[in-house]
Amino acid sequence: MEFSDLRKRFEAAGQGHVFKYFDELDDAQKDFLISQLSRIDLEELENLKETLLAQKRGAEVDYSKLEPAPYIPLPADKRASKEWQKAKLEGQKALSEGKVAAFVVAGGQGTRLGFNAPKGLYPVTPVKGKSLFQVFAEKILSASRKYGKSIPWLIMTSHTNDAATRKFFEENNYFGLNKSDVLFFVQGQMPAVDKSGKIILEDKGKIAMTPDGHGGCLRAMCRSGVIDELQRRGIECISYFQVDNPLVNILDPYFIGFHILGKSDMSSKMIPKAYPLEKVGHFCLLDGKLCVIEYSDLPEEYQRKVDENGKLVFLAGSVAIHILDRDFVKRLGSGKDAAFKLPFHRADKKIPYIDDNGNSVKPDKPNGVKFEMFVFDALPLASSPVIIEGARAEEFSPVKNAEGVDSPISCKNDQKKLFASWLDSVGEKIERDENGVPKSDIEISALFASNGEDFAEKWKSLTDLPRVVQGLYIE
Ligand code: UTP
Repeated sequence: MEFSDLRKRFEAAGQGHVFKYFDELDDAQKDFLISQLSRIDLEELENLKETLLAQKRGAEVDYSKLEPAPYIPLPADKRASKEWQKAKLEGQKALSEGKVAAFVVAGGQGTRLGFNAPKGLYPVTPVKGKSLFQVFAEKILSASRKYGKSIPWLIMTSHTNDAATRKFFEENNYFGLNKSDVLFFVQGQMPAVDKSGKIILEDKGKIAMTPDGHGGCLRAMCRSGVIDELQRRGIECISYFQVDNPLVNILDPYFIGFHILGKSDMSSKMIPKAYPLEKVGHFCLLDGKLCVIEYSDLPEEYQRKVDENGKLVFLAGSVAIHILDRDFVKRLGSGKDAAFKLPFHRADKKIPYIDDNGNSVKPDKPNGVKFEMFVFDALPLASSPVIIEGARAEEFSPVKNAEGVDSPISCKNDQKKLFASWLDSVGEKIERDENGVPKSDIEISALFASNGEDFAEKWKSLTDLPRVVQGLYIE
């Protein structure tokens, strides 16, 4: 688009102030600003001004209509459950036919952890200090060896961390994966606006752009062409997970099988909440539609509500583990159907800006609004969504905070506990402290086994058993 047309469009939308300092910029700065402006969808922004900005919070929900979502419970022994075994066979079939891709969303800012690099580079394992990305890469590599098929791995980055993420993979030789199976793409951005809906200039030649949330992955997959690439490769299911959880069972045949057998557009794993106010989303039914309601939105009385047996009513916590059907992503992410797309949420934030006199200001209270999409908002739009229960100790221990709950230490301890439980199951005795944490550091690479069942089988086949000592590492 010609510069004069671009300018006219912004002026007509009441956003002409973005050119206030344009004449002071050098050519490179002008080009940068123009490239930012040309990616802004003014119509979408106008809609958000009318909807989200006009009200203080998201759309009001009538909580009295809320019901807990149904889910497929975890049996005491998966091997003894016909239903679970049937699902496993179906999942294994899809994996051996090369119909499944792995997908990590890694475009977040990771502010709570405060690590000065993309979060996927964070050293997380107990003995070797492997990065989160390496842990995932080894799980994918191990599954692709097991099923004899290459498994594409989609990695969504952000404008801020894309280059550093790609460099890390280059430097580490893709952790043994084929370079052509690792598909990076960058998520979209949204302009931050002030309370009246005016786009915020962060600098004279720079708009305050923020990542559009993990839900932005659907349209980013379409815009980047990744979804077409998956179609070319015959991929039907996309196994979605977050960058912060090294315990995630990325290519779980049971989960994939339930998704396929249920003819589901989108499936999710639930984990029973550890305590009533745990900071996770809640799987609910609203007007018969499956949805996730964030802990911050669900009134406390509902988070604490118990049934006649004292069991939490809204027990099913969302841990951001989903399977997405490829065609569903394409339909939702292409934006062709205006009624069929994810809603935005608003978050009020402190956003540095240039004031009317051209000075940089760092506000000390929220002065602006950023817009984000959440991937779980796709659930109410999905047909036949399936939820299955997962085991927390085996699948979920995220690194979110620098200390305390969901921190590097808690995650290391959870990894050690999990690996120790696998060793227990084959008759090894692991000494624990009073909190049940193994006294010695233990780490089992996914290249050896990535779940308890595989571990027990592999262990049986070893002729020389390793001695379990301080700092045990098994690969
Ligand atoms: P979080 O909600 O934990 O946010 O993201 P975050 O930005 O990583 O961390 P904080 O809140 O600043 O501490 C959950 C998952 O969604 C991804 C993150 O990378 C993480 O895997 N995500 C989040 C994106 O890919 N894009 C986004 O815009 C937001």
